[in-house]
Amino acid sequence: MSLSRTASSDFDTLLSQKVQIVNETLDRLLAEQREIHPALRRALVYTLAAPGKRIRPALALWCCELVAGRENAAARTAAAVIEMVHTYSLVHDDLPAMDDDDLRRGRPTCHKAFDEATAILAGDALLTLAFEILAGRIDEPALAVGLIRQLARAAGPAGMIAGQMADLKAENTAGSIDTLEYIHTHKTAKMFRCAAVMGALCGRGSPEQVEALGQYGLKIGLGFQIADDILDVSASSEQLGKTAGKDVAAAKCTYPAVVGIEKARELEQTLAREAIALLEPFGPRADVLRQLTSALLSRRR
Ligand code: IPE
Ligand code: IPE
Ligand code: MG
Ligand code: MG
Ligand code: MG
Repeated sequence: MSLSRTASSDFDTLLSQKVQIVNETLDRLLAEQREIHPALRRALVYTLAAPGKRIRPALALWCCELVAGRENAAARTAAAVIEMVHTYSLVHDDLPAMDDDDLRRGRPTCHKAFDEATAILAGDALLTLAFEILAGRIDEPALAVGLIRQLARAAGPAGMIAGQMADLKAENTAGSIDTLEYIHTHKTAKMFRCAAVMGALCGRGSPEQVEALGQYGLKIGLGFQIADDILDVSASSEQLGKTAGKDVAAAKCTYPAVVGIEKARELEQTLAREAIALLEPFGPRADVLRQLTSALLSRRR
């Protein structure tokens, strides 16, 4: 899966290897859950199997590799549950009461393909299942608790939910840089930090390594959401697999709306440079994260 026409084919290959691992792990974890209601299972399979970019779980796997030399079973589980929580956030984000979107990952949104109640329940199911899996599938109890704490904080009311609340409250307001930074850090960057931290914890990274990779995740996460805002005003729906131009239509508080597209691009570049600087202590072993940072800067979807 190419993020951009110009991204190096090396990086595309490395990413597609991770996408495959994440997809296989998601399939297996879902298949192991025998008691899911069939109507719910159809909605879960529909949303999870859709072609997401899988950037957050790939980040988790790479951070594990970086500190441990290779990925491990705990990191694969962590990566899959991060993607479950992210997917739930998209299903709910698309609901009529939130962003009211019809298209996601190139397909009708969950509430369009099924119905609103099913989409609400599918989101609830993905979020809850993520924590059940962490509690039951991570062998070492202290690691399981650490991962659960990280994910709960990043996805919860001091994290992504806070960002989503602020995003909705900021519709039709003039907005400010401070408000924007709050929204984007909470709704998106904290989940990126969480992915990096969870991967590093699974690889038994030192506290310094975990902290540095968490900061790296926060920087690229903020840049990722700025790019999402820019793509919303500059790309087509076909390219994005979701409806373009919807932020202006909903009078969202976005970087292009508040600071303009040029300044938004500059900020993205600055964040990428700051992110790469945080990788310095890891030397050449962190090259894949350097490549990820550049690929995200030039991403087209
Ligand atoms: C979309 O995330 C929501 C944002 C935080 C911008 P992605 O762009 O990672 O969506 P998928 O997972 O590839 O569909
Ligand atoms: C969503 O931000 C962030 C989430 C936590 C889901 P957006 O509302 O901009 O994401 P898209 O553009 O719908 O993917
Ligand atoms: Mg939204
Ligand atoms: Mg949205
Ligand atoms: Mg968006």
